[in-house]
Amino acid sequence: MIHAHVTSWFIAIILLFVCFSLHKNGKEKQAKMTKMILRLFYILILATGGHLFGLYASALGSGILSSAVFWKVLAGLWVIVSMEFLLAKQAKGKSTEIAWIQFVVSLLVALFFGYIVL
Ligand code: HEM
Repeated sequence: MIHAHVTSWFIAIILLFVCFSLHKNGKEKQAKMTKMILRLFYILILATGGHLFGLYASALGSGILSSAVFWKVLAGLWVIVSMEFLLAKQAKGKSTEIAWIQFVVSLLVALFFGYIVL
């Protein structure tokens, strides 16, 4: 399940870049299609991450709330929110600088918890 989780978020990040550059180059139709596929990958990330979380939760019980896994999940959710925020800003024709910074910071936090803390 961990491999499916890593594969899902890795592909999602690639799709984010593809979607961003398609939109930037005026390829609206392709960008919209890519965005739909990207959202499918959010579901895969949530399903695989949720499953892993369930395994930890059943082992740790209420202790899960004070564990690093809990923070890992929050960081993962933040990454998804920041990806959507970035694409929403771009769609509105607004500056995406802050959104990119948020995306990179959230990703680093998730990777930190996923690979270094856990
Ligand atoms: C794009 C967003 C996400 C990224 C970049 C990410 C990244 C990671 C990484 C790097 C790991 C460790 C993989 C390993 O040990 O080989 C991991 C594990 C995990 N993730 Fe995520 N994740 C994301 C989203 C989520 C979400 C949304 C959830 C919850 C719904 C979640 C829950 C988990 C859990 C429970 C683990 C297992 C912790 C462990 O044993 O290391 N993740 N994730």
